[in-house]
Amino acid sequence: MITVPVNLEERSYDVLVGDGARHRLPDVLPKRARRAAIVTQPSIPVEADPGIEGCTFPIAEGEAAKTFGTIEVLCRGFARFGLTRHDVIVAVGGGVVTDTAGFAAAVYQRGTPYVNVATTLLAQVDAAIGGKTGVNVAEGKNMIGAFWQPHAVLCDTEVLKALPPREYLSGLGELAKYHFLGADNLDELPIDERVARCVELKARVVAADEREGGLRATLNYGHTLAHALEIAGAFDLRHGEAVAIGLVYAGLLARHLGRIDDDRVAYHRKVVETYGLPATLPDGSGADALLELMGRDKKRRGDDLAFVLDGPAGVETVDVGVEAARQVLVEMGAS
Ligand SMILES: NC(=O)c1ccc[n+]([C@@H]2O[C@H](COP(=O)([O-])OP(=O)(O)OC[C@H]3O[C@@H](n4cnc5c(N)ncnc54)[C@H](O)[C@@H]3O)[C@@H](O)[C@H]2O)c1
Ligand SMILES: [Zn+2]
Repeated sequence: MITVPVNLEERSYDVLVGDGARHRLPDVLPKRARRAAIVTQPSIPVEADPGIEGCTFPIAEGEAAKTFGTIEVLCRGFARFGLTRHDVIVAVGGGVVTDTAGFAAAVYQRGTPYVNVATTLLAQVDAAIGGKTGVNVAEGKNMIGAFWQPHAVLCDTEVLKALPPREYLSGLGELAKYHFLGADNLDELPIDERVARCVELKARVVAADEREGGLRATLNYGHTLAHALEIAGAFDLRHGEAVAIGLVYAGLLARHLGRIDDDRVAYHRKVVETYGLPATLPDGSGADALLELMGRDKKRRGDDLAFVLDGPAGVETVDVGVEAARQVLVEMGAS
């Protein structure tokens, strides 16, 4: 078992990574907890026994589960179960479950401890760590939420074997970004070390910038185009697949701006292809539509678009003119 600390002063916690990590749940619960409310989805084939009185609260599948409606149902259920703010909420699932249960924990009795048992690769390397919790509204994804750090996180690599191949691939897309954030040998590591290395990098960024003043935005490497492809909705892409395409685009854009050379662009493509992820825009991608959607990015200031781009000083947020962004989309085959 590998232990990765997330250093946030009194909000510090450990992430345990390894085969069978879920069995450590009783050891990582807050000492005072008498009851555990377990939030999960019926489709998740993972049992996590808290070793104290537990009650399971199933939520629906997918983004549709991340709503205020779910938060209300969960919190009312917790109250009927007799959960107090000295007890614990346990999220067993992927990012949908950890985001939703985490937000319920942030607001239940003005803040109740929670533990994430991350069961998807994407949640293990990203979503379950760092305390960003929230739900969607019709006006936008993750629009409503809170920073609420978990009490502990368990990343059980054994349960990844049950993941549908497409979900695993999507997790690899999220993982691929860490090649550009300090872990360029990730593909050579066994799965436990690979996940732990990503957790370590995410923990370092979160410790330096818990509430996203600047550095934390680098975790969105590859995400500006990825979000546009996802919102466009016409393409059959999982999040990590869209991120993979976004990484290749970010590489090309950085070269266009003279920030990196051809070898570095080739490395972007190599990383994405090593994991079997898509490296090209989906057929039918239109530059105008994608530019319009990228213009809605939260990082944006003024007329330019905001991108996280590689360069001599590493990955950082950069303002980019719309014309440059368009030329590189066209270079990738957009019409
Ligand atoms: N809070 C953050 O910092 C952060 C970061 C990245 C992503 N996210 C959020 O994460 C969400 C995506 O998470 P995801 O990709 O994990 O998707 P997900 O939570 O929807 O899980 C994908 C599917 O895998 C199934 N599943 C989960 N574990 C399984 C297992 N071990 N075996 C078999 N099936 C299993 C689930 O039932 C689900 O159908 C998005 O809502 C995104 O906004 C949050
Ligand atoms: Zn992502």
